[in-house]
Amino acid sequence: MKLLITGGTGYIGSHTVVELLNLGHTIVIVDNLANSSTEVLSRIETITGKSPTFVHADICDRSALDCLFTEHRFDAVIHFAGLKAVGESNDIPLSYYHNNVSGSITLFEVMASHGVKKLVFSSSATVYGENNCSPLDESMPTSATNPYGQTKLMIENILFDLAKSDADWSIACLRYFNPIGAHQSGLIGENPNGIPNNLLPYVSQVAVGKLPKLQIFGDDYDTQDGTGVRDYIHVVDLALGHVKALEQLDNIDGCQPINLGTGNGTSVLEIVNTFKDISGQDIPYDIVPRRVGDIATVFADASIANNLLGWQAKRDLAMMIEDTWRWQSNNPNGFA
Ligand code: NAD
Ligand code: UFG
Repeated sequence: MKLLITGGTGYIGSHTVVELLNLGHTIVIVDNLANSSTEVLSRIETITGKSPTFVHADICDRSALDCLFTEHRFDAVIHFAGLKAVGESNDIPLSYYHNNVSGSITLFEVMASHGVKKLVFSSSATVYGENNCSPLDESMPTSATNPYGQTKLMIENILFDLAKSDADWSIACLRYFNPIGAHQSGLIGENPNGIPNNLLPYVSQVAVGKLPKLQIFGDDYDTQDGTGVRDYIHVVDLALGHVKALEQLDNIDGCQPINLGTGNGTSVLEIVNTFKDISGQDIPYDIVPRRVGDIATVFADASIANNLLGWQAKRDLAMMIEDTWRWQSNNPNGFA
């Protein structure tokens, strides 16, 4: 297939591009490099022996997208491009709504006008909001507690309406739980700008000596050890979920939300202790008050992904952390 991958130089996009190239697909990446680097492209080539076509453009730029769809006859689009930092979205909500929502509408309009109506979209478990109990399944009510989450929810709702309005669309809305890990080669991985917000990049930067100490946000939750529990999923399993979704798009009617998670919950302390054992590094931490907006426990019911896509996460926590550590220790400054 010939595929357009928006945001394909980013963390999840680059791992998905590797799996798609390995399967022989032809890939065109469009990315504005807001949160990624072209160094990823040469790393992808080293891993796969193949090069995707790269177009440096913004998905909000209608004429750039129009040129791209005129030049290439795409079979489908995987849409990763978006801004993703929850805290930042509270500070600059208009940028988030413009980039994520307006950018997505522009992309969907250009797709429709060129008759490309197969789409895999990066949604998030954040759309389950604060009021559902885990395991979270796709029939549960959705809500959002911050502008980033609102953008994911708005795009999902746009896609449900779009699919209702035109039966030619086949759309998989993949709701990711907590992606971590890196490619086994240690050549590509997560490369956050500035101080990381998420747990794993923070822990790995403490382990490599770039940050002095982890802050654990609360040890008084109703969980096995009092710290927050999440469903961490290896980014390569997540990438393979996109491959399966793409292969099953013909069997999807309309717009289908699909959880991509392992179904298992792991606490912050379990992550810290496993990281310590695997890396052999000390991970000093302080327990600090809960982070506003966090909830105790989040994990997936992944039955729809299992049954509809024939997909299941295979990589365990040890592998997630070994691969994170290999990436971080081989590339202490990311792609710089
Ligand atoms: P990332 O920031 O590494 O990748 C996103 C890519 O999109 C970057 O390369 C960035 O430069 C590009 N981009 C952003 N805005 C763009 C625009 N207007 N035009 C063109 N390119 C643009 O993030 P990621 O972790 O790979 O996430 C990919 C997608 O998955 C995002 O939509 C994110 O919201 C979603 N998601 C991520 C997580 C997570 O924890 N990483 C969880 C759930 C959902
Ligand atoms: N945590 C700490 N210290 C840190 C960072 C995180 O203790 O420095 C804790 C959090 O309190 C939470 C757990 O580690 O219990 C995971 O936190 P992350 O920030 O890594 O991930 P979240 O589950 O809060 O959110 C992530 C993405 C969201 C996405 C969501 C999907 O950041 O964008 O997963 O479930 F929506």
